[in-house]
Amino acid sequence: MATVLVTGGTGLIGRHLSHLLLQKGYSIIILTRKKPGHATPNITYAEWDVSRGLIDKDAVMKSDYIIHLAGAGVADERWSAKRKQEIVDSRVKSSELLVKTLQENQHHVKATVSASGIGWYGGDNDASRVKGFTEEAEPDKDFLGETCRLWEQSIEPVQSSGIRLVKMRTGLVLSNDGGALAEFKKPLKFGIAGILGGGDQVMSWIHIDDICRMYLYALQNEQVSGAYNAVAPTPVTNKELTLQTARTMRGKRFIPIYVPSFVLKLILGEMSIEVLKSATVSDSKIRATGFRFLYPSLEAALNELLRNK
Ligand SMILES: NC(=O)c1ccc[n+]([C@@H]2O[C@H](COP(=O)([O-])OP(=O)(O)OC[C@H]3O[C@@H](n4cnc5c(N)ncnc54)[C@H](OP(=O)(O)O)[C@@H]3O)[C@@H](O)[C@H]2O)c1
Repeated sequence: MATVLVTGGTGLIGRHLSHLLLQKGYSIIILTRKKPGHATPNITYAEWDVSRGLIDKDAVMKSDYIIHLAGAGVADERWSAKRKQEIVDSRVKSSELLVKTLQENQHHVKATVSASGIGWYGGDNDASRVKGFTEEAEPDKDFLGETCRLWEQSIEPVQSSGIRLVKMRTGLVLSNDGGALAEFKKPLKFGIAGILGGGDQVMSWIHIDDICRMYLYALQNEQVSGAYNAVAPTPVTNKELTLQTARTMRGKRFIPIYVPSFVLKLILGEMSIEVLKSATVSDSKIRATGFRFLYPSLEAALNELLRNK
């Protein structure tokens, strides 16, 4: 039975992915800042402290694969200078610690699949609006573009230890257990569908089951290597996403309300750029390898997530 080390495995993607990996017969070690008090069947926990450069080396040495998800939540807090540094450091320094551990010790890790984000691309241009951003595009110069560039760069040296590397430029993950969909659902409890800004900004999304299946696919397929956009084939506008969520949850019992950009700027500060930014991202590279989505359309994804729940 192969062992997968999952950094940040306690988070939204990590919990679902660990469940999928267990179902497929993998043994799991979650690398976390603090082991939970309770035991989870078939999952082992190991600790690290990235800022102090401490890591459970045995956990890394036991592993056949690494899935690197750890990072301070990009949308969890306002982007103060301190928080921005934490967002970058938690990703870059954790990657560097993994790389150093692999370079300094005998290991048998075959592949590493690391999270990255579609923040790499910045906002739409004329070409991306038509065919979507593809993986060879340069990183944007804004905060998230620079974060993704440093993040991907920091994990790349694992390849010098003979490890295949895959980088998942992940879109907006739709899940019932947190993340963006939970925020869209909050005003809908009161019958309000909150469309952000003008609502015509494109959001490139992916269903939680598909992002987890894509991690598994990347881990299992040796021909998969380098950066891949992890987004569904059908990006939609914020208005479409909001209204489709509202219709699926409430039929016709809701009122659409536009939340003006200046209000979002007041509430979110600089982070408002991210919800107002349009980013049409292409899934063509991962699809060309043979990957098939369970939820290629937003309607299918939301029906699965929201109906009868
Ligand atoms: N969800 C999305 O829509 C989305 C979109 C694009 C990219 N991504 C990326 O995919 C990865 C996983 O996403 P997710 O939604 O599962 O994230 P998440 O729920 O925020 O979980 C991330 C995990 O990282 C660890 N972590 C948090 N702060 C840390 C810090 N300062 N230093 C070291 N570790 C820290 C935590 O694990 P412990 O507490 O156990 O240490 C946490 O459970 C993230 O890197 C995220 O940026 C996600």
